[in-house]
Amino acid sequence: MTENERPFLTLGLESSCDDTAVALLEGPRQVRAELLSSQIADHAPFGGVIPEFAARKHLEAFLPLTAEALRRGGVTDPRREISLIAVTAGPGLMGSLLVGVLAAKALALSWSVPLIGVNHLEGHIFANVVSFPELVPPFLSLIVSGGHTEIVLAESFGKYVFLGGTRDDAAGEAYDKVAKVLGLPYPGGPEIDRLAAAGDPFAFDFPVPMKGSPEIVFSFSGLKTSVITEIRRREQRGEPLPVEDICASFQRAVVDSLMGKLGLAVKKTGIRDISISGGVAANSSLRSALSKRRGWNAWLPPVNRCTDNAVMIAGAGFSAFSRGHRSGLDLAADPSWQIW
Ligand code: KG4
Ligand code: ZN
Repeated sequence: MTENERPFLTLGLESSCDDTAVALLEGPRQVRAELLSSQIADHAPFGGVIPEFAARKHLEAFLPLTAEALRRGGVTDPRREISLIAVTAGPGLMGSLLVGVLAAKALALSWSVPLIGVNHLEGHIFANVVSFPELVPPFLSLIVSGGHTEIVLAESFGKYVFLGGTRDDAAGEAYDKVAKVLGLPYPGGPEIDRLAAAGDPFAFDFPVPMKGSPEIVFSFSGLKTSVITEIRRREQRGEPLPVEDICASFQRAVVDSLMGKLGLAVKKTGIRDISISGGVAANSSLRSALSKRRGWNAWLPPVNRCTDNAVMIAGAGFSAFSRGHRSGLDLAADPSWQIW
């Protein structure tokens, strides 16, 4: 095989929060290797991510994970076989980002391979693009995770318009905080989702955030407080805690809010292709509501590509590189990097 016939391999690196992830992508979407080292068990005793601890864990995990990804992907000579290194450069936790960016720069320098810094949110959008070749802009993207709740219009790859976001807690953050008060393990989203399946979504009339507002704006802090107040009230009176019903009713309010604001975005733009991504996109109730919605094309990534992963970073990096973008060895980490 000549140099020109060699497959284009992107090494994707992600460490913006509490997962260290490495992936090897061939071309735009063929996954050769995908590895993830989760820190959930390390942070669980604290009920949330401890930033400095996360950075130290990334430092331990990065190079062994990269070596294993190369091995599984059949790469024996990365200098010759790796075509591009794509790394999350923001937004995220500064210490965590620094570890990934520095690792990527060191590998790019020692292998003489081009480097590209990827925006984590664009990465989440690419979780769908990598999974579905038919998904092309324009489309709407709901990014809904532990740190984000945003509706974005993808006009073209690399060109995004912010349509609306949360004014306080992110949806995943509200899930995690309610779960903590219920005594459920971290992260709370999957636990609440599981328990909600056995509960009555109308048992409690928790408020649907920003329901009456004609603006595309989310707010989950009031809902979270209503749920926590109900839990405390019952505890003080010694009343039983119908955990499943509380989970189901909370989840109904969150999903109604997300669906309502997506409805406004569809109305505003006339676009009916809706992609969702981020950890909360794994939610069974949200997925079901979107799939059932008539007149919309729902693009739902596989559950393991909703939460943070490196395949999405490699995919976004490959796309940006194909459009002529490059980063230098002076690439900086930007904890609040916006894509719009
Ligand atoms: O995208 P992600 O892995 O990390 C961030 O960038 O934040 O998202 C993690 C968030 C957590 O808040 C977690 O509780 C939530 O996604 N999550 C869920 C579900 N699975 C994960 N929330 C609701 N339902 C789920 N099934
Ligand atoms: Zn994320």
